[in-house]
Amino acid sequence: MAGHKKLYVKTFGCQMNVYDSERMGEALATAGYVASDDITDAELIVLNTCHIREKAVEKVYSDLGRIHQLKQQRADQGLETLIAVTGCVAQAEGAEIIARAPQVGLVVGPQSYHRLPDLVTKALAGQKIVDTEFPDEDKFTKLPERTLSPSTGNGPAAAFLTVQEGCDKFCTFCVVPYTRGMELSRPVALVEAEARRLVQRGVRELTLLGQNVNAYHGEGPDGRSQSLAQLMERLAGIDGLERLRYMTSHPRDMGDDLIAAHRDNPKLMPYLHLPFQAGSDRILAAMNRKHTAADYLRLVERIRTQRPDIALSTDIIVGFPGETDAEFEATLDVVRTVGFAQAYSFKYSARTGTPAASLGAQIDPDIANDRLQRLQLLLGEQQASFNADCVGKVFPVLFERVGRREGQLVGRSPYLQPVHATAEPSLLGQIIPVSISSARPRSLAGEVLAA
Ligand code: 5AD
Ligand code: SF4
Repeated sequence: MAGHKKLYVKTFGCQMNVYDSERMGEALATAGYVASDDITDAELIVLNTCHIREKAVEKVYSDLGRIHQLKQQRADQGLETLIAVTGCVAQAEGAEIIARAPQVGLVVGPQSYHRLPDLVTKALAGQKIVDTEFPDEDKFTKLPERTLSPSTGNGPAAAFLTVQEGCDKFCTFCVVPYTRGMELSRPVALVEAEARRLVQRGVRELTLLGQNVNAYHGEGPDGRSQSLAQLMERLAGIDGLERLRYMTSHPRDMGDDLIAAHRDNPKLMPYLHLPFQAGSDRILAAMNRKHTAADYLRLVERIRTQRPDIALSTDIIVGFPGETDAEFEATLDVVRTVGFAQAYSFKYSARTGTPAASLGAQIDPDIANDRLQRLQLLLGEQQASFNADCVGKVFPVLFERVGRREGQLVGRSPYLQPVHATAEPSLLGQIIPVSISSARPRSLAGEVLAA
């Protein structure tokens, strides 16, 4: 549209950032910005950053270097470019970012996104802006309603919805309590209203997000707090909403009613992301996880008793300070015992300001690399075998996007696997039975059975 300014958003990190990027795009739309896929064309470039590991932060600074060159090239053509850094690096480093990368005009933390249009105007007037406040107001109520613009990468059939933010658990390796602040749950009514709007716009699957989503305790209609299971029971009553998921969970917050919901809530998908981080009780204690490996295994058993077909995914860290070979083996043991459909595994990364960063006995990088490789080999085998076991089954697949191959659509199984199938574009946004005929290490393919 003529007269509209172009916005380019790059998202790093977790799903919460994906959600936030979408909401920022909507906020900036009120200031006349339209999303663009072409960074060279953008008047406003937003890097929505992640602080969780050193590597993620380095990536931001190297991107900023490249964007600086772009800004100079555009300036030679008489074009202005405003560069904004948002997200967790913005929150953690604040003004440091502008000191290190003076091309940045605007640094905005995750709690201030509703102020973006205003802050952008000020930055365009030449002020350097750093806004990393932790206001008490619920920023979500101040953001414009969801429009689900397709450019944000979120397909219209499945959407994220942040219901909880922050973390009070203080795992000793983790920056989240410092970057995202204390645990805060959005009220049930606001979550439900947002969910209804999304469903009206064609969303069939919602993933409820929170750094500690199962600690959800939002205010219910009667003023009393409700659990995640209660929230999902309510959401399951929305006509047209077919699937619910949630992430990320802490084992300590898997309440009885949440476990029961995996049996009783017909819309809750049989898939659970449940990080265990390490298999050694000594390391778990040093991480301040407040559970043992046996606690985790018992929990998995209880969940599987209620929902035998549930698929599990997890997060694991190798090379936590002081981790011995035997302690690493204990991590492999838990993986072998549980059997994961999918997993994320990381080399420990010391984060300034976290308790673990000042522990002695940081692990030699070669050893950590070696452990990560061994772990990923095992996890890769488990994922491939989980996928191979799906061949011959029939899954309801929610088709979300067109595939790269002509005539092909890509959807998700209940177990979150991407499923490729030849299908009419009219099936986008629908849940269709698909007979699984082949498996790859990370995806499935099959034939549509009936429309
Ligand atoms: N180093 C490595 N991995 C980390 N994670 C969180 N903090 C660190 C860190 N300092 C991992 C955890 C968490 C996931 C989101 O990232 O496994 O569950
Ligand atoms: Fe990264 Fe955590 Fe921020 Fe998500 S919340 S972007 S994982 S630091």
